Amino acid sequence: MRPVAAQILITKRIYPEAVQFLRSAFEVDYVDHDDGLTPEQLRARVRGKAAIVCQLTDRFDAAMIDSLEGVRILANVAVGYDNIDVAAATRRGILVTNTPDVLTETTADFAFALLMAAARRIVEAHAFVHSGEWRRWTIDLLVGYDIFNKTLGVFGLGRIGQAVARRGLGFGMKILYHDLRRAPEEVEAALNARWVSKEELLAESDFVSLHVPLTAGTRHFIGAAELARMKPTAILVNTARGPVVDEAALAEALERKTIAAAGLDVFEAEPKVHPKLLDLNNVVLAPHIASASVETRRRMSMMAAENAAAALSGRRPPNLLNPELWIQP
Ligand code: GLV
Repeated sequence: MRPVAAQILITKRIYPEAVQFLRSAFEVDYVDHDDGLTPEQLRARVRGKAAIVCQLTDRFDAAMIDSLEGVRILANVAVGYDNIDVAAATRRGILVTNTPDVLTETTADFAFALLMAAARRIVEAHAFVHSGEWRRWTIDLLVGYDIFNKTLGVFGLGRIGQAVARRGLGFGMKILYHDLRRAPEEVEAALNARWVSKEELLAESDFVSLHVPLTAGTRHFIGAAELARMKPTAILVNTARGPVVDEAALAEALERKTIAAAGLDVFEAEPKVHPKLLDLNNVVLAPHIASASVETRRRMSMMAAENAAAALSGRRPPNLLNPELWIQP
């Protein structure tokens, strides 16, 4: 790549090879720390930039997008892009990209880890051993729930949902799914997955794993009514987005044990967690790290950099979310 004058803003620390890659061809304004920029700081810092490599903690709502001058691309370092108003960006002619595929298996591994940890009470067991209270073996010490041969309900049978279902198959689980659209027949056949209504999935599943994107239609997709439909022995896993679940309703259900347990990687107002969840033993909590393997986070950084570089070099960014803006000459 030949150096060009275009300026790129990287809003937050990413893996160094991605920064180097961009610096080899562009002028880069790198916010090389983890605090992120306030909306005011972001507004000031984007001035004069042609590309922004951003993260899920940066909010590009319609007002922020309307204030952008000369920005050609928002390259999000995440597969989810609910932090960006893509319709507003499209109206302004700004390309938006994400980092799909690379994190599919990594995220599915973590969803399954949460499922297993919640079912077999691994975090409680670890704390118990550490506490020094383990003095004898008893028949029902830290008994949990079996995973093999149970029913796994997947909401959203996209890339990550399918990868979680594949793991379930390996455990001999029966797979149910619900999605706005039926998956292609070959996908259903490969996963031995049956499409069911939302209500049926909630009522029949021993484990419910969420893999829907956060949209206006999926905000509080799981609330008090949905939790009430679940089995008292059921376990909910959320590695999608926090606001997909009504966190207060979930905390209430876990406290009253109307469902057995939950494994959560995402929260409604990260990094805040509903205080009740912090006091409960039947929930495993993680700080939004489902895609956090070294390999994947490195690759996500590079993908976002490659998307930004492509747009500034006149090439179609590989992971374009608003392809209607890409008009072939
Ligand atoms: C992480 O949550 C992502 O969307 O990549």
